[in-house]
Amino acid sequence: MKSTSQSCPFGGDATAEKAAETGAENAHQSFKDSFSYSSYLRIEQLLGAQAPITQAHDESLFITIHHVQEVWMSLIIKELTAAIAHLGDGNFEPAMKMLARVSRAQEQMSNAWEVLKTMTPADYLEFRGAFGRASGFQSWQYRSIEFLLGNRQRYMLKPFAEQPEHHARLASLIERPSLYDVALQALCKRGLLAESALRTQFDQMPQPNAEVLKAWVSVYRDTAKHWDLYYLAEKLVDVEDNFRRWRFNHVVTVERMIGHKIGSGGTTGVDYLRKVLDVVLFPELWQVRTEL
Ligand code: HEM
Repeated sequence: MKSTSQSCPFGGDATAEKAAETGAENAHQSFKDSFSYSSYLRIEQLLGAQAPITQAHDESLFITIHHVQEVWMSLIIKELTAAIAHLGDGNFEPAMKMLARVSRAQEQMSNAWEVLKTMTPADYLEFRGAFGRASGFQSWQYRSIEFLLGNRQRYMLKPFAEQPEHHARLASLIERPSLYDVALQALCKRGLLAESALRTQFDQMPQPNAEVLKAWVSVYRDTAKHWDLYYLAEKLVDVEDNFRRWRFNHVVTVERMIGHKIGSGGTTGVDYLRKVLDVVLFPELWQVRTEL
């Protein structure tokens, strides 16, 4: 006999009728010769990386937020790498699209702090001691993004000495032109900046340069004439603006969680992170605002 939940008072099968209405009855059932959702996206591997090492309830949240941020970083690295290549070849349009995507991804990263902040210092202390010296300071993806954007210090390679593959990748990135370097090369190709103003060694922070500032001033004073360079400059400012917001949200969250304790990565913690807030990636693009 049919159960009441399945039978329709007018003689039809309620479940079948519902499925027919939505079209769900046509959904594929077998994936022997094709990818399924899980196999294509490797969901098991993805979720398998969530492996708390304590019984603390909030450790899952902590791991999830870090993973989400690292996944966005992976996309940002791909987009920045491709944008640098396109700008180097003079292809502005695809590069602009990629930089816009970087900005949107950064916004998602900044929003993640809101979820993490539901954890209290007491919750965090339940598992903080368990992960030893692990710290975002050792995130090779974060350092890659900084190197791609132009925040470069050789000593930042040191924490990767025991990971030859990541060390080699970062060491190679630090030698190559950053996003800002290729933007300055574009100014040069347009005859707005002398080649002598371009740096040839890339493994350090760029120093503010009066000639570079002058070139950006001419772009901002005649935006119609230099529309693509002006548009590029504003995309760079978007990226730096979002980067600063991420850093700011991070340091405030850190202070909220651990006050002025030493960081698990060995730095002075909040004091170190506050100093990093002063780093300027594209100095002349901020100075140009005063000059206009
Ligand atoms: C409870 C939450 C968190 C605390 C208390 C915390 C604490 C810290 C501290 C103290 C530092 C300085 C380095 C050190 O460890 O000595 C640091 C650096 C860093 N953290 Fe966090 N963090 C938290 C969440 C996150 C999350 C969710 C991410 C996302 C990936 C992250 C990424 C980073 C990165 C990339 C750095 C290096 C920053 C730089 O060198 O400019 N942190 N964190």
